[in-house]
Amino acid sequence: MKKITIDDLNLKGKRVLVRVDFNVPIENGKVADDTRIRESLPTIRKIIESGGKAILISHLGRPKGFDEKYSLKPIAEHLSKLLGISVKFTPDCIGEEVRKMVSELKEGEVLLLENVRFHPEEEKNDENFAKELASIADVYINDAFGSAHRAHASTEGVARFVKETAIGYLMKKEIEYLSKALTNPEKPYVAILGGAKVSDKIQVIKNLMDKVDAFLIGGGMANTFLKAKGYEVGKSLVENDKIELAKEILSEAEKRNIKFILPVDCVIASEFSNNANFEITSVDKVKPDWMILDIGPKTIETFKDVLKDAKTVVWNGPMGVFEFDNFAKGTFEIAKVLAEITSKGAVTIVGGGDSASAISKAGLSDKVSHVSTGGGASLEFLEGKELPGISAIKDK
Ligand code: 3PG
Repeated sequence: MKKITIDDLNLKGKRVLVRVDFNVPIENGKVADDTRIRESLPTIRKIIESGGKAILISHLGRPKGFDEKYSLKPIAEHLSKLLGISVKFTPDCIGEEVRKMVSELKEGEVLLLENVRFHPEEEKNDENFAKELASIADVYINDAFGSAHRAHASTEGVARFVKETAIGYLMKKEIEYLSKALTNPEKPYVAILGGAKVSDKIQVIKNLMDKVDAFLIGGGMANTFLKAKGYEVGKSLVENDKIELAKEILSEAEKRNIKFILPVDCVIASEFSNNANFEITSVDKVKPDWMILDIGPKTIETFKDVLKDAKTVVWNGPMGVFEFDNFAKGTFEIAKVLAEITSKGAVTIVGGGDSASAISKAGLSDKVSHVSTGGGASLEFLEGKELPGISAIKDK
């Protein structure tokens, strides 16, 4: 790891400002999924144990100015339970009151600042705002992988004004695993790509084209490729303006002798609903008024066959509409295969966002090598982009 990490610094007695990604679902004033919070605990605990003063900063949602609905207060309560200590909470993330609470903070205590996005300066990466955040810190740690693709004041700007910077344990783990998908992956290497749109995955396909042995394509994005190959896909989701591009990708894969495997059969539905009538059909027999909502059993078998010998797998995007039970099979079967091959030694990396929700719904999150906590961030990482939140941290 060429970045300075939390282990490289002496935190004793220091005010440690940690950018965490506590952008988690809140329902009826309670945290509905605390994965991201739990994943930040090793970094927070390390600061407590080292005698540092932890000051946590995060965004929640996309508020336009102050809005109670997006307050981090419920997260302070939840975090207190997880840590077994009382986490202090500030009514804002800058200003007199914050400075006072920081100055009163004792070694081993934790303070959570109110939503940084209540200030529009955050997303503008305003220099004065970043300086203001930096003024309450001796050390800045970025552990918010989920927000590392954002060049905001609390993820990027602030790092320029704090002398000591480092990445936390979560960020380190994310970089290490996702890098395995890009640098010297053990072969055979398979990328499973799904989700609604081809347009979201084009850069990932391009970046992985010279690295993988096979692409397995499912989800709504497969429809655009099927159409590019001349199949009629009825009322399925298709990006008509991406058909030419899909053709180019298919011919590029063929030229390079990379398997680019599309569904051979699918589950079609009369409408976009879990209560819709549904049938299994081959991809050349999709009914004109129906839509593809999952991959079919033959496709699942083909995918399993390719995956069984894989040594590295990266998965981004569900195979079907897994939120509807009738169209979840393809996605869950893929999750099961990943769990199986992981137990036999394969490295399996699941992108954040929908794929993370899918594997969690399948109850298999802890049976794969790594589930990313970042949706957009993991996608941009796999696209080969530099993430500003990581670049901002000094190298060793
Ligand atoms: C996420 O949930 O993907 C991150 O927290 C980033 O949130 P944003 O897309 O609102 O910047």
